[in-house]
Amino acid sequence: MSHHTIDLTEVLYTYPDGTTALRNLSLHIGHGEAVAIVGSNGSGKTTLLSHLNGVLFPSSGIVNIGGYPVTKQTLTQIRRTVGMVFQNPDDQLFMPTVYDDVAFGPLNLGLPPIDVEKRVTAALKTVGALELRNRPPYRLSGGQKRAVAIATVLAMEPAILVMDEPTAALDPLARRQLINLLRTFTHTKIIATHDLDMVLDLCERTIILCNGTILMDGPTIDIFHDKKLLDQAGLEQPSSMQSCPICSKLG
Ligand SMILES: Nc1ncnc2c1ncn2[C@@H]1O[C@H](COP(=O)(O)OP(=O)(O)OP(=O)(O)O)[C@@H](O)[C@H]1O
Ligand SMILES: [Mg+2]
Repeated sequence: MSHHTIDLTEVLYTYPDGTTALRNLSLHIGHGEAVAIVGSNGSGKTTLLSHLNGVLFPSSGIVNIGGYPVTKQTLTQIRRTVGMVFQNPDDQLFMPTVYDDVAFGPLNLGLPPIDVEKRVTAALKTVGALELRNRPPYRLSGGQKRAVAIATVLAMEPAILVMDEPTAALDPLARRQLINLLRTFTHTKIIATHDLDMVLDLCERTIILCNGTILMDGPTIDIFHDKKLLDQAGLEQPSSMQSCPICSKLG
C-alpha cells in the first residue's frame, strides 16, 4: 500500500437496531491530505471513521484503503495502515499498565523487544506521558487516558492517522501540544471533531456531515467563512474567526 488513499463508494450503514447512520456516502481522500470531519452530535462522524479500519463494515457500498477493499480478509493489513484513536479512550486501553497498552500493538507486529521498548518510550514521550508508564490506565484522568490512547496508535507508526475527537478532555497546554504533534505527522490524517479552531490550524479540507450525508466538502477556510452553511449544519465559526464581543462594543 504505497498510496495512502481512502475511497468510499455509496456507503450505507444501518445499525442492528435499524438506525441508518450513513446514507450512500461517497468520498475520496488523497495521499497526505489532512481532512476534518465535522457535524453536529449524531451526524455520523464516528460511524464513518469506524468504517476506515473495519470496526464496522458497510451495509452496502465499498470502502477502499490504498486501493484495497476493507474486508475481513484484508483487516490485518488495513489495521497496520490505519491507526485509529477512538472517541472514548476506555475503548482503547485494556492492559494492566500504560506501558503494556502502548507495547501491545508493536508486540503484535512481531517486533523485537528492544524495538518495542524504543517505540513505546518515543510514543509516550511524544504525548508527554512517559511518567505514567507504570500506572494502570483505568486510574488515569480523562486527559491522561486520551494522551495514552494516542500513544498506543503512534507506536504503530501508521500511514494513515484517524482520530475521533482527539482534543476532547485535554487541557489547553495538552491540546496545543497535540496540535503541534499532529502538524508534524505528514501522512494522511482524518480528524472528526467539534474543535473547529484545531481544524483551522491543521486541516486544509473539511467535510460537513449532516444526518449521515455530506452537506459540504471543500476548503476549510471557505466553509468557515460561510455562516449560513455553518448554521444549517448546527455549527459555529471557530472562536478565532469571530469578532471579539468586547472590542465590537467599544468600536
Ligand atoms: N451502536 C449504535 N446503535 C444504534 N445507533 C447508533 C449506534 N451508535 C450510533 N448510533 C446512531 O447513529 C447516528 C450517528 O452516530 P455517530 O456516533 O456516528 O455520530 P457522531 O457524529 O459521531 O456524534 P458525536 O458528535 O455525538 O460523537 C446517530 O443517530 C446515533 O444515534
Ligand atoms: Mg462521535
